[in-house]
Formats: sequence, structure tokens, C-alpha cells
Amino acid sequence: MIDLGQLEREALTALQGARTRPELHRWRAEYLGGRSPLAVLLSGLGAVPLGVRPEVGRQANSLKARLAAAFDEQTRALPAQVIEAALDYSLPGRPAGGGRLHPTTATRRRMQAAFAQMGFQVFQGRDVETDGYNFSLLNMPPYHPARDCHDTFYTERLGVLLRTHTSPAQLRVMRQTGAPVRAVVPGACYRVDQPDASHNWMFYQMEGFAVGANIRMSDLLGAIKGLVCLLFGSEVHVRFRSSYFPFTEPSIETDVSCTVCGGEGCRLCKDSGWVEVIPGGMIHPTVLRNGGVEPASHSGFAFGAGIDRIAALWYRIPDIRLLYEDDLRFLQQF
Ligand code: DAH
Repeated sequence: MIDLGQLEREALTALQGARTRPELHRWRAEYLGGRSPLAVLLSGLGAVPLGVRPEVGRQANSLKARLAAAFDEQTRALPAQVIEAALDYSLPGRPAGGGRLHPTTATRRRMQAAFAQMGFQVFQGRDVETDGYNFSLLNMPPYHPARDCHDTFYTERLGVLLRTHTSPAQLRVMRQTGAPVRAVVPGACYRVDQPDASHNWMFYQMEGFAVGANIRMSDLLGAIKGLVCLLFGSEVHVRFRSSYFPFTEPSIETDVSCTVCGGEGCRLCKDSGWVEVIPGGMIHPTVLRNGGVEPASHSGFAFGAGIDRIAALWYRIPDIRLLYEDDLRFLQQF
């Protein structure tokens, strides 16, 4: 018969010396494993004389429980000791995974660089605007029907709203610089819109305009084609259509062939093969006048490029909402 008291003392002493995970595993195999003296004793209980069998079984089981508890205790105490023992202060730190530009930001920068090549300066507008700059001064007086398609987030202050487009910046910049000027103004816009693959309640636009003595429609078409060409090369087709905006006359819409489906039809292009990306036109004389520029001697063109849609075409993203969901699985692809 083994001496359980001696086994216990021996086991606990050995446990004190087990300071690493492998040592602890070895200890458990030796004292609690299937071939440990305790296990052998318990499985051989049948051979123990009947008179002492219950007592031996009880003592062996109770020792087994005490050793298991001691083992747990030692394992719990382990982390601090192990970390201390295993710390190598000379190891290099873990690299903090590099950040990267959001696809919308990268697209905005590419667009700015393309416009810089064509002589456009970058200005900043305001996210919170007045009704005057956002609408009235852009030739949309109260009750003008065009206000309907700008479902607006109003603030509690009367006449103060979240801009529905970057066009108010035309007036702010013109008033600041006078003519001639060539400017782009990127920024977020807000509309109470039903989100879908090509719409969101917050989106990015890049307003662009040129005002001078002799600015013509062909300059507008050239600037837009220049942008598309600098961004996409000959990869895409461009199509101009006539359109209507209260602040331009005449007005146009620019469609770019869909890179997501190659014209087959998809959510982004609403099965048309074309994505509307750059509306524009010749600045309305009233708007020039409101910007402090004399329409008799000056003219200008303007456009409002959809940065998110251009990003979608550039990266072949089928749905612009993906740009705003902050899903790392999506963002880490860029
Ligand atoms: N501001 C217009 C919108 O978001 C887009 C636009 C159209 C901008 C024509 C322009 C322009 O500068 O000339 O609906």
C-alpha cells in the first residue's frame, strides 16, 4: 500500500517547483494522470481487502480532490510569474498596423490633384449653411419647386440648415476672391434621402467653378473630360445630357460608363450602364451678380462632382453605402 501522506507531501513540494506551463502539465500527468500512483490505487481498489476498502477509497479520493485544487491554485497564480520570467525586454514591440486613407478621401485627393493640374485652387465651404446661401442666392427663392428635390435637414434656428449641396461655396468664394477665379470646394452634403446603392443621407461633393472674362460651355466640357481622363484614362466613356438647375443656364449632366458591371446593368447604375457623376452648367447671371461678379463682363461655369460615385466607379464598389458603414472587412481591402 502506498503512503498517502507521503505522496501528498511529495506532490505539493513538486507543485511548488512547477513554475511554467509545461512544468505544470508534467506535474499533473505525474500526480493526477491515468498512470499516477493515485489513479493506479483507485482503479485497483477491488484488490484491497474488504475491511479497509471504503476508507482507502475515501482517503484516496479526498487526496485527489486536494491535489486538483492545489493544481488549479498554482495555475491561477501562474500568469504573473510566467510573464515575469518570460519577459524579454530587448524584444522589438509589435507593429501597430499602419492606418490608411478611406477610399473616399483617396478619391477626393486624386480629384483635387487632377483639378490642380488644370489650375483650380482648393477652398473650404461650410457644412452648416443659411437658407440664403444654400437656396435663395442660388436662384431658388422660397417656394421654388427645385427646393423639393433637396429634402433638407433644418436646424432649430430659423434659416439655418445642413447644406444640401456644395454650391453655396460658389457664392462664398466669389465674394471672397472676385473674378477671375478657378476653385474646387470638396465637402459633405446632407439630404433627407432614402439610402440606396447610389444615394445616402450624407454624401460628398466637389463643387468646381471658373469665373472670368470669357468662360464658355466648351471650357466646362473640357474640364469635366479632363478630370475623367486624368482619373480613368481611356477606361470609361463620357456622355453629356442636357439638364436643369436653377443656378445654371444652360445645364448639363455628365454620365460615366459603369465600371462595376461594364454596361451589363447593376445596382450602382440602376441597370442603365451609366452613372450620373457630374452635373454642371454655365453659372446663371443672377448667381454671378449675387457673388459680386458683373455678368455683363464675366461668365462662368460650375459643376458639382459626386465624390462617392466617382470612388465607386474607381474601386468598382457596387453600393456607395459601403463607404459609410465602417466595416473593417470592407475598408481593409483598400
Ligand atoms: N448642386 C447640385 C446638386 O447637388 C449639383 C450641381 C449642378 C452643381 C449644377 C453645380 C451645377 O455647380 O452647376 O443637386
